[in-house]
Amino acid sequence: MNIVLLGAPGAGKGTQALRIEEHYKLKHISTGDIFRHHMRQQTEVGNLARYYIKKGQLVPDEVTLKIVSLALEEVNYSDFLLDGFPRNINQAEKLDEIVKIDKVIDIAVDHAVLTDRICGRRSCVECGYTTHISMLENASVCPRCGCDMYQRMDDMEETVKSRLEVYAAQTAPLIDYYEKKGVLVRVDGMGTPEEVFAEIRKVLG
Ligand code: AP5
Ligand code: MG
Repeated sequence: MNIVLLGAPGAGKGTQALRIEEHYKLKHISTGDIFRHHMRQQTEVGNLARYYIKKGQLVPDEVTLKIVSLALEEVNYSDFLLDGFPRNINQAEKLDEIVKIDKVIDIAVDHAVLTDRICGRRSCVECGYTTHISMLENASVCPRCGCDMYQRMDDMEETVKSRLEVYAAQTAPLIDYYEKKGVLVRVDGMGTPEEVFAEIRKVLG
């Protein structure tokens, strides 16, 4: 089963991806995570991606498409879960040329809650655990492994505004694109993470 997770920044794609990956034994491919890995390693791709990510803009398609092609090759083009890709019509068309997508899950969340979710997000430097600051007893310590929690550099309010604008202009049209192809399913992303995952299980079967 080949799945695409759609949704605005902060909709809960990463949160649900971890659950879907484990439950359905799919390989999670997050372009955002791949770029952040490159940025930490200070590779050429990482330095280029940082320039765009800092401003809340999309990394150019030619760079992103190369990264996704490699990641898909690594999973033999099957049983994967794409999180954060495609993000515009051009990326979706290129993806269609390489693989068949079985289901596209759009996680729908009211825009009013997105900024709070994103600006309050804290992630562990070591194990990748992500949560909202309100859930942490100590904002700088990971409750799972005890390592440091950090705030993503693109999770500042100004950058979030730009990410939401980019989403509305470039990514939201994919809902229509996949609906016309008959593969789109929508889930309500306003419940708790467990409630959202229960909905996803219903639509995936
Ligand atoms: P990326 O890392 O993909 O970020 P994003 O799409 O903006 O989405 P987020 O990761 O911010 O949100 P999410 O939906 O995963 O939510 P999460 O589960 O973490 O991309 C970053 C950047 O990389 C882009 O801006 C772009 O520059 C570049 N990039 C990436 N892909 C690209 C591409 N294809 N082309 C070009 N450029 C690309 O949850 C968010 C918060 O909410 C957390 O704190 C979480 O604990 C909380 N939360 C989650 N679910 C719930 C819930 N049900 N109830 C309450 N709180 C919840
Ligand atoms: Mg994410």
